[in-house]
Amino acid sequence: MTSAPDIRLISATATYALRHQVLWPDKELDYVKIENDVTGYHFGAFRHDELVAVISLFVEGQAARFRKFATRPDCQRQGIGSVLLRRVFREARARGAHQIWCDARQDSAGFYARFGMQPEGEPFYKGPIPYVRMARALVAEPDL
Ligand SMILES: CC(C)(COP(=O)(O)OP(=O)(O)OC[C@H]1O[C@@H](n2cnc3c(N)ncnc32)[C@H](O)[C@@H]1OP(=O)(O)O)[C@@H](O)C(=O)NCCC(=O)NCCS
Repeated sequence: MTSAPDIRLISATATYALRHQVLWPDKELDYVKIENDVTGYHFGAFRHDELVAVISLFVEGQAARFRKFATRPDCQRQGIGSVLLRRVFREARARGAHQIWCDARQDSAGFYARFGMQPEGEPFYKGPIPYVRMARALVAEPDL
């Protein structure tokens, strides 16, 4: 990893361009907006003041879910996503969640497994892309 990214809370709107570019470039921009975006916590990773990765967290009681996790292609595999994901785990725990889950693209399942997330249930598809739900418990802060 080069320099550590600066992690900031950002607006949902600020996530849209990266969500679109990285996750669903063939869809309309509106496709990457989530109905309940307004209820989420949206984090951005900045390098030299430039937004290079995003993730959105939704907490419902003791369960937290993250969605629309994307690092700009030229910045992937430099440790930025790891910093962002750990931040989201801590935030979810601090907000009372005991478990965190996501619908993971199969391509990224190996990445999430490194963070203690385990597949749950059968794989499924969103369009042509295979997914699997992955989850882990959130225990004491020092573990995160
Ligand atoms: C998944 C994603 C957000 C991870 O962000 P990132 O900034 O690349 O993550 P990091 O650089 O912190 O990766 C940490 C480690 O996981 C590895 N890793 C990254 N993506 C991986 C993947 N898809 N599968 C397995 N390992 C992966 C990295 O090589 C790195 O390993 P290292 O520490 O040994 O070098 C990013 O790769 C991405 O945007 N992918 C495309 C969109 C996507 O699939 N999003 C997730 C949808 S569920």
